Parts: sequence; structure tokens; C-alpha cells
Amino acid sequence: GMAVTKICCIGAGYVGGPTCSVIAMQCPHIKVTVVDISAQRISQWNSEKLPIYEPGLDDIVKKQRNVNLFFSTNIEESIQEADLIFISVNTPTMTFGVGKGRAVDLTYVENSARTIAQFSTSDKIVVEKSTVPVRAAESILKILSANDKPNVKFQVISNPEFLSEGVAVENLLNPDRVIIGHEETADGLWAFKQLSKVYLNWIPESKILKTNIWSSELTKLAANAFLADRISSINSISVICEAIGADISEVAKGIGLDSRIGRQFLQASVGFGGSCFQKDLLSLVYICECLNLPRVAVYWQQVLDMNVYQKSRFSNKIIESLFNTVTGKKITMFGFAFKKDTGDTRESPAIHVAKTLLDKGAKLNIYDPKVDPEQIKKDLTHPYVSDNPENVFKFIEIHDNPYRASHSTDAIVICTEWDEFVNLDYEEIYKSMKKPAFIFDGRKILNHETLATIGFQVHTIGKGHKTINMSSELTKLAINAFLARRISNINSM
Ligand code: NAI
Repeated sequence: GMAVTKICCIGAGYVGGPTCSVIAMQCPHIKVTVVDISAQRISQWNSEKLPIYEPGLDDIVKKQRNVNLFFSTNIEESIQEADLIFISVNTPTMTFGVGKGRAVDLTYVENSARTIAQFSTSDKIVVEKSTVPVRAAESILKILSANDKPNVKFQVISNPEFLSEGVAVENLLNPDRVIIGHEETADGLWAFKQLSKVYLNWIPESKILKTNIWSSELTKLAANAFLADRISSINSISVICEAIGADISEVAKGIGLDSRIGRQFLQASVGFGGSCFQKDLLSLVYICECLNLPRVAVYWQQVLDMNVYQKSRFSNKIIESLFNTVTGKKITMFGFAFKKDTGDTRESPAIHVAKTLLDKGAKLNIYDPKVDPEQIKKDLTHPYVSDNPENVFKFIEIHDNPYRASHSTDAIVICTEWDEFVNLDYEEIYKSMKKPAFIFDGRKILNHETLATIGFQVHTIGKGHKTINMSSELTKLAINAFLARRISNINSM
């Protein structure tokens, strides 16, 4: 039958924007239109300054925009002309009602489905790209078919997105895999083939995984649970390191060299952030509870608990080291994004650190190379963070230069692992700071020996100060803990 020539993507966010830009670049014969209810977002995509920062993205958008890539608020027209529609709207944690604070709010997905049903005048393949709870495709299909018009047929397939912010373009050009879940019918298989053909323009067939819809949905949640689990696991070992005088960098290396475990994602830190890990784990835990699987729910909840503990441990360490009081002290925060190479601050651990320090009366000088100052103000005056926004404005200064940001301050706190923080002139910075000058390296990116030689009081994560280094003993135990944990992880699914 037909081949896809027109794609509509609902949701011009961190997923919709980069994904469609790469599809447009790799498929010159396909017209790709990204639509959004936010006129501001769309006009930003059509401007010189894109709404999101992602390495390599500017070039692609500049090349394809108004060639075969369009950003538009005309949702009706774009749906009407499309053969295939991606739903990549936000799926945040519910903020009210049943499941508040845990379940995923499917309002935006549901609204997208209703809009598709309303405007469609020909058959559509509807692709669930947003991360959703298991069996959400069923709800989408229900909405679509309840609004079926006589000559319009819908096929819903699941195609979760695995890109990682900061390396989104790289991930999209060369994904580890593409998962497409379809209904086990002839029409479902046909829809699978249509979407596969789009990806086959640049992705080898061997990387396209064909599954049923429910496996596909669960795979996304499970993958994020496994990734977050690794961070909490290594962070839990960092706590032991501090207690016994071992070094988490040594232990992580020793663990990672075991080929059954692998080296990636073993960086101990102030904790994970981002819009996905917490939201998707909360969703998984909630699903388990609804399925009456309390043991599995508790198992995954602990990954989240560990992350909260790690963030507060780090914040408390700052206060304790500064002689148990930060009232009136000036503290520099290097980095506010939830990780490097993105301007995204959603669930950033920096917010937790800032809140703790502000609550204790500290003044903050904040510098991040990519985060919009307005975003920082918005995050720190959010009702979850402060009940006195006016006060926050008095206590924070946002800087566009790391040297000015650290001038005359008592301490520097590294919250994001931006490369540029590694190569700053710390001798210069030391001279301009109050003494004793402290550095709290929440990302373990700096050379701590060099900093100590300059005169800094250096604190980091996962490094104890005992005379006998216990790293080798701990490594053996940690390897077995990681291996056993992975078996339990997969068994829980
Ligand atoms: P986002 O919040 O950046 O973008 C979502 C966009 O959808 C917003 O611009 C919003 O205005 C728009 N929207 C909402 N309802 C709409 C409607 N009815 N019609 C038109 N537009 C509408 O969200 P993001 O980060 O792109 O995430 C989207 C989905 O992808 C989520 O389910 C998320 O879990 C998932 N995901 C996110 C990843 C990430 O790194 N951010 C990675 C992989 C998956």
C-alpha cells in the first residue's frame, strides 16, 4: 500500500523537536510538521534562538526548516494532511486527585487523541511516542474509535523514545534500538511496517525491534527504572565509601570492568534529575500498587528514596562543613541544569541544594552556561520550593560569568558536570574568594589534589578520609550486590 509522505507531530518539546528534525533530515521525501498548542514554543522553533539547547540541533533545524520541516500552530491542517501522527506531548506526574504525586497525568495524551479524532478525514497511523503507563494505547484507541467517522480508520502503535537530553541528536542518528509495538492483527502489522520504513531511511533493520504494544510500553518504563537504579546503586556505595575510607571512583572502576556489569552509568553524584527518571519510577511504583504487587512497588520506590537521601546528604555536608551555619554566607553554585549540555532544569538536584541553602539563610550566586535566568527564578520561587518568592529574589544573584559569580563568596558548589567547569582558572578564583575557601564537587569532575594544593577545602562524594583505603574490599562486595540487584530487577518486571 501507500508509504508515509506526511508526518504530523503533536508536541514541540524536548522529544518532538529533535526527533522530527532528525526525521526531516534523514527523509527528504517526507514532509514533517511539528505542532503545539503553545504559540510561544512554535514561534521560538521558527526563530534564531530555539526553545531548547541540544548540541548539533541548531544546524539541522536551520537546514531543514521550511524545506521539509515545519513548526506550526495549525493543528487541524497538519492532522488532516498527515498519514502518520506522533503523540509526543508531556506526561507529567499528577498534581491533584487520585494518584496525586505518583500516577502519570494522561490529560495531554487524551486531548491529543480527541483532537486527532476530531480533525481526521482520512486513515491515520497514530504513534504513541510519549512515555505512558502500560496499557495507555488501549485508552487512546478507545477515544479514537469512539469518535470514528465512517471512512476513517485509526491504527495505534507504540514507539517510545529513548533519547537522552544533551546527546539527543547523536542518539537519534544512531540509536541503540527502535522499539515498535503493534496490535497483533494484519492492520497492526501494516502500521508497524509503515513506521519501520521511515526509520529504515537511516537505521539498520537489525536495530528495529518488533513487539506487542504492552511490551513496548513496559520496556520504556523498565529501561528508565534500570538506569535510575544504577545511579542509586552506585550512590548507595558512595555512602559506604565515605563511612569506611574508600574511594567511589576506584570502586566504580573496579565494578565497571566486570563485563557483566559494564562501565557506563556508574558515576556517583549529588543525585539524578531530569523530567523522566523520577516521573517514570513514580509511575511504575503506582502501576505496581494498582496491580496489587506491593513488593515490587516497594522495590522500585527505594531507588527514589536513595536519590532523595543522596541529595540531602550532599546539601547537609555543605552546611556542616561551613561550620554548621550558612546564614548570611555567600555560596556560588556552578551549574543549575540537571546535567551537562542541556538547559533543562526539570527535577534538577541543583534545585534541592539551592532550596536547602536558602532555607538556612544563605545567599546564592548562580552561574549556568545554558539555563535561562528566568527559568532559575521560576524554579526557586515555585510553591514547592519557597513560600516567600519575594525573599528568594533578595537572596539570589544570577551571573553570566563564573569568575564574577565566585568573587567574594565562601564556597563553590558544583551541581552540573559542565566541561567548562573543569578548565576554569581556580588559582584566580581562589584569590578572589573569602577564606577558608570551600569547593563541594557534587559531580566529581575536578582535580581535587590540585585544588587542595591551591588552598581550597575540598569536599566531594564517595571519598572517605580514613588512613587505610578499603576500596578493594568494598569492590568485591559491590560487584556481587550489583549482579544480584540486576537479577532482581528483571525478575520484578
Ligand atoms: P515537553 O514538555 O518538552 O513538550 C511537550 C509539548 O507538548 C509542550 O510544548 C506542550 O505545549 C505540548 N502539548 C501538550 N498538549 C498538547 C496538545 N493537546 N496539542 C499540542 N501540543 C500539546 O515534554 P518532553 O520532554 O518533550 O516529553 C514528551 C514525552 O516524551 C513525555 O512523555 C516524556 O516522558 C517522554 N520522553 C522525554 C524524554 C526527555 O528527555 N525529555 C526522553 C524520552 C521520552
